[in-house]
Amino acid sequence: DDWELKICCMGAGYVGGPTMAVIAKRCPKIRVCVVDISQKQIDAWKTDDLPIYEPGLLEVVQECRGRNLFFSTDIATEIEAADIIFISVNTPTKTQGIGAGRAANIKNCELCARTIADVATTGKIVVEKSTVPVRTAQAIARVLQSNEKGLKFQVLSNPEFLAEGTAIADLMNPDRVLIGGQQSEEGLAAAAKLVSVYAHWVPREQIITTNLWSSELSKLVANAFLAQRVSSINSISALCEATGADVLEISRAVGMDDRIGKRFLQPSIGFGGSCFQKDILNLVYLCETYGLNECAAYWNQVILMNDFQKKRFSEKIVASMFNTVTGKKIAMLGYAFKKDTGDVRETPSMFVLRDLVHEQANVHVYDPQVKREDMWIEMDYTCGMNKDNTPRLEESVVTAPDAYAACEKAHALLILTEWDEFKTYDYKKIYDSMMKPAFVFDGRNLLDHDALRAIGFEVHALGKPDPLKFSDL
Ligand code: NAD
Ligand code: UDX
Repeated sequence: DDWELKICCMGAGYVGGPTMAVIAKRCPKIRVCVVDISQKQIDAWKTDDLPIYEPGLLEVVQECRGRNLFFSTDIATEIEAADIIFISVNTPTKTQGIGAGRAANIKNCELCARTIADVATTGKIVVEKSTVPVRTAQAIARVLQSNEKGLKFQVLSNPEFLAEGTAIADLMNPDRVLIGGQQSEEGLAAAAKLVSVYAHWVPREQIITTNLWSSELSKLVANAFLAQRVSSINSISALCEATGADVLEISRAVGMDDRIGKRFLQPSIGFGGSCFQKDILNLVYLCETYGLNECAAYWNQVILMNDFQKKRFSEKIVASMFNTVTGKKIAMLGYAFKKDTGDVRETPSMFVLRDLVHEQANVHVYDPQVKREDMWIEMDYTCGMNKDNTPRLEESVVTAPDAYAACEKAHALLILTEWDEFKTYDYKKIYDSMMKPAFVFDGRNLLDHDALRAIGFEVHALGKPDPLKFSDL
């Protein structure tokens, strides 16, 4: 047992799994074990049918599993063995009680700290990897310090910036690694130890250290700024549709200003995913807690704009299709919140699906990675819609085996996720199989609209001039 270091990660989800797999790959002499309270989750990590889909992840897991990467539900043993313990558990928006609908629930983080304080027999470095409200490290430290064994713990903040669908690439080559720690001798030593782990593959100048509170808050701020860009461009897409300007031309023109930058200016039917909305609401609630109501309202507007964009898209579908979709078959291509993931948490597609079900359409969904049962779980969790309170929900939503089946005899085809494979289909064949007029609503501006119009489709795109409505000068 001559490991350079032993790491335990509590939480084997979208962050814990890929992050630890990449640490194991890049640090063969470090022993990494990911633990979880969910037996099902841990069992899946031990097979080749991993619990999450992420390009390149399986290869990394296969390379390291059994060598220096392990998965276990024996939490106590693994905590005891570890030098560094990451807390990478979910911190969802509270659904009831104080701050319901806005505050992040950190009960899972506190529980992890209590478990560590309970079972550890030597001091540890405890790393907050989960996204948490600023000053959570203080709560974690107090719980840890309340152990009656006289053990000393150091708490670090090390937020994760990976995006789903590109997690492995992001982890292998991060823009930066952020480590916050207490500015005491012990705190700085603990931070230096974590720096040395990342320094196995991340250039030293890209690993930055700060105080604890800056590190915790930077994560919320980064997500708020990113989401703000999406809401900003989405607000402009609405103005484009009213004026005949083209939002993609605007993204290009505006993004070429180095100060603004090209990325994250893609209009969409709204941002989704487990982080943006949750983390902005967390920031809004923090501002309110400190009596900063103008700051709270400012950031909350990013969410309101996103809600508007999602609603606008459903309304456009119904209005264009002669104000009724009742009984009509609609093909929905893409359900995940972005391409290259099967994750449906907060996916904007769900809100379009909800609205179409309320309009009594028959929706045929095709997504290369989404599991049907995950659609229902999220629909119930986020929209409160389930088969008990929505008659015919399961009959009016069909999951199609492929896009061609979804489109056959459909009145409209919706593009909701920007999967690459959607660009490769034979749209003439699809057109021939559809009802006429055959509508396309491209919520990602993914397809070649001129080519579709030449085939005969009536195309509606986000923030793109509608040739039926606008002409040049
Ligand atoms: P997840 O739901 O995929 O995984 C969390 C896991 O933690 C689950 O498997 C759950 O069973 C486990 N867990 C809960 N309580 C536990 C406990 N007491 N002991 C052991 N395991 C426990 O969540 P995620 O998407 O991986 O997110 C984790 C954290 O990382 C969140 O705070 C999130 O905001 C943040 N984050 C997520 C992303 C992302 O893209 N998903 C990116 C950056 C940061
Ligand atoms: C985000 C952050 O990017 C990441 O740094 C953080 O760690 C977790 O949250 P993620 O939610 O996985 O990552 O994906 P991201 O690529 O940020 O996309 C979020 C949503 O915004 C998606 O629904 C995406 O389609 C949408 N989006 C993104 C746009 O609509 N337009 C864009 O230009 C970019």
